[in-house]
Amino acid sequence: MFQRKDAKTMSDAALEFKQVSKSYGGGGFVLNQFDLTVPKGRIVTLIGPSGCGKTTILKLINRLIEPESGSILLEGTDIGSLDPVELRRNIGYVIQQIGLFPHMTIEDNISLVPRLKGESKKALVGKVEELLRLIGLEPEQYRKRYPHELSGGQQQRIGVARALAANPSIILMDEPFSALDPISRIQLQKELIYLNKQVKKTIVFVTHDIDEALKIADHIILLKDGAIVQAASPEQLLQSPANDFVREFIGADRFRAEEVQRTAHDVMEDAVSIGQQASIADVLEQLGRNQISNLVVTSQENSVVGIIGFEQLRYSNESAAHSTRVKQITKDVPTVQKHTPLDKLSGLLAEHPIIPVVDESHKLCGIVTQAGFIKKIGLSRERGEVVL
Ligand SMILES: Nc1ncnc2c1ncn2[C@@H]1O[C@H](COP(=O)(O)OP(=O)(O)OP(=O)(O)O)[C@@H](O)[C@H]1O
Ligand SMILES: [Mg+2]
Repeated sequence: MFQRKDAKTMSDAALEFKQVSKSYGGGGFVLNQFDLTVPKGRIVTLIGPSGCGKTTILKLINRLIEPESGSILLEGTDIGSLDPVELRRNIGYVIQQIGLFPHMTIEDNISLVPRLKGESKKALVGKVEELLRLIGLEPEQYRKRYPHELSGGQQQRIGVARALAANPSIILMDEPFSALDPISRIQLQKELIYLNKQVKKTIVFVTHDIDEALKIADHIILLKDGAIVQAASPEQLLQSPANDFVREFIGADRFRAEEVQRTAHDVMEDAVSIGQQASIADVLEQLGRNQISNLVVTSQENSVVGIIGFEQLRYSNESAAHSTRVKQITKDVPTVQKHTPLDKLSGLLAEHPIIPVVDESHKLCGIVTQAGFIKKIGLSRERGEVVL
């Protein structure tokens, strides 16, 4: 049986701006026929220079301000057709100044919106506990405290818990961590990523800080003068910046650090090799034992001759597994040295599953694999971002 799908359930986007224009009167358009699509369940960061329109975009979403023209759809529904107060109660909003009520306990601050929606305080006790645990604060210790009895980082966490309390479909965050010290900030960034793995909300996160965007975002939207300059994943943005503005915004230093200074040495792994006189049966045994797909073939002097893997074995005769020698079906492969830059290496890895690393006399020192390369680049970026 088919269920009728209405306009609301048909939309795959959490949020869409369609030809939205906004001016504050007099000073020209901040947004001019602006289009934007935000996918569901992702963390999307809006980033760009001061005054480019980031806060304006968030305020339009919860109707703190209205556009001159165009439409904004939240899960397929035009927000212009909704009651603004009701709309805001279904959107989590976290801002830099936190905005906790100083005369209310933490418990009351977190449960405020569900109470406004009519849920009883008693019914919300369990929910507050669950949210406090989710943001890493022990309920018994914190629920009865007042905001001034918490650190800045803890207060900001309460802000996030409060935004989650009403179970909103989308959470808007406007530079939520920018007033925090660097350590609290990094902790909260990590927690946000973890949190979103649990709750899978759509989060639109405004930041000035490209490192923060690269770290937390599934998708980055880089804005300039109210227009999108590039919308891409963090990896795409780093690998293929659309123009000089993006390159400059990301920081020329980062490219130097990421692409040029780093070499094959940084991503190298131990090689599993086999002599060219070995049999195909030996190859199969080695591949199986090490759970890998390719071996480096070496000469008696440990020089690299080529590689052998499942690709080559496909064409070899099963019955001849013991008589066929490795050197008969070895595949040529380019080699690199430890000081080979990563950009050259990534080009080679696009064509070959593994690349042997050799010393000056062509002796095997290690290998770089496609999977290992991606993993190590990711990890080192993570490490790089944690450095204060
Ligand atoms: N209430 C207002 N009245 C008039 N102009 C405004 C108003 N609010 C914002 N603007 C102008 O609109 C433009 C975009 O402002 P917006 O607050 O969206 O920028 P932003 O990208 O959030 O900047 P920042 O990174 O500094 O927070 C700016 O030029 C700003 O001066
Ligand atoms: Mg702003």
